[in-house]
Amino acid sequence: MKVNIVGMGYIGLPTALSMAAGGINITGTDKNKALLDTLRAGRLTFKEKGMPELFKSAQDSGNLSLSDCCVEADIYIVAVPTPYHKISKKIDASYVAGAVNDIVKVAPKGAIIAVESTIPPGTMERDVLPIIKEKGLVRGVDIHLAHVPERIIPGNMVYELQHNARTIGVDDEAVGEKLISVYRSFNKGTMTITDIKTAEMTKVVENTYRDVNIAFANELARICARDGMDVREVIKIANMHPRVNILSPGPGVGGHCISVDPWFLIGEYPEMTPLISSARKVNDAMPSFVLERVSALMKENGITDLSQVGFYGLTYKENVDDTRESPTLQLIEHLENNLVFNIRSYDPMVTHKVTDGQVMDFDEFLSSSRLVVIMVAHDHIKENEKRLEDKLVYDTRSCLKNIKTYQL
Ligand SMILES: NC(=O)c1ccc[n+]([C@@H]2O[C@H](COP(=O)([O-])OP(=O)(O)OC[C@H]3O[C@@H](n4cnc5c(N)ncnc54)[C@H](O)[C@@H]3O)[C@@H](O)[C@H]2O)c1
Repeated sequence: MKVNIVGMGYIGLPTALSMAAGGINITGTDKNKALLDTLRAGRLTFKEKGMPELFKSAQDSGNLSLSDCCVEADIYIVAVPTPYHKISKKIDASYVAGAVNDIVKVAPKGAIIAVESTIPPGTMERDVLPIIKEKGLVRGVDIHLAHVPERIIPGNMVYELQHNARTIGVDDEAVGEKLISVYRSFNKGTMTITDIKTAEMTKVVENTYRDVNIAFANELARICARDGMDVREVIKIANMHPRVNILSPGPGVGGHCISVDPWFLIGEYPEMTPLISSARKVNDAMPSFVLERVSALMKENGITDLSQVGFYGLTYKENVDDTRESPTLQLIEHLENNLVFNIRSYDPMVTHKVTDGQVMDFDEFLSSSRLVVIMVAHDHIKENEKRLEDKLVYDTRSCLKNIKTYQL
């Protein structure tokens, strides 16, 4: 069995390494030659717990090769980006279509194309099937289609790859069983075979569920802040009700999944998604809410210059180096749109410059910040809590326990 994984990013790479380590013959394909060079030189392209060990197992197995083009294989796994159009909110399926276009040029008769990228219901039918047909190939005979969405969380990817339940969307059971045999090389979770459209829907539903529930917590945070209540205390007590489970509020929702996937449903079903749409607006407004609080805290403490405020954390969640759509970058963008530049920020996980005003050294960051705004609960800041004792601290994540802080 030969598998070609197309897209060696946050999803494709750990999947390729896991399969190779699990005994499957893998070619990892990516258009980004610099990324392939880095991997060939034995260096990983992002930081993630357990990845160095997994990389070593994959290398030792001799099952992994890398290529900048697609190769002949029995199964193709597509793990390329799926952004959305900012105006229509519909999915931009051009990367998926591009990858499938490349695959059909080399795929042998009977090959399976399994898309792992997140796509809304109907995408395989609307954006992938025509490419197969255009080539004169018959679905279910020359090429089998499948959608196998991924649900791993950065920060715990390797564990979740091995243990999460998987959804296998296929046209026919036999194709599903073949895919299960491949995913079983590294995954111990429950595997559910369903049809493709249901698989597409479940993935976007899962992330939309999270977004809507986070929005509820964020809305409560705003109400509590207005009227002097401690939202965390309110949620803690409310969650003692046996059927209530409110999530944690925060400074916004980022990343490439939860803040993006609800738009796919809104884009496809605009008139049927008022709740999802409102939730997106609530979460997108959180960075501005944080800024309003920062401004009030500056006034309260006689700080007149934003250069004395430092934003800690540039990633969208703790202990990862992924900054995509992060609340801090949203906040900085908001300020820049209002012609406020050079916002001081620092992130121990981000070792390259992602924004002007980013300080690369923690000591330097601390020495010039009178007010520190904690945007991300990295372990690093918890370990350095004592060093913030003489600072004003606005802890939007409520992650510091032993010093006095302002809360969301
Ligand atoms: N990152 C996550 O935590 C996560 C979790 C679940 C699902 N997903 C979904 O998985 C998909 C991939 O996300 P990601 O975070 O891995 O993206 P990524 O940007 O990290 O990686 C995508 C890779 O695909 C490559 N690529 C693009 N077009 C190509 C082509 N035609 N041929 C070969 N390579 C190509 C890019 O160069 C890039 O390296 C998205 O649909 C995303 O929504 C991501």
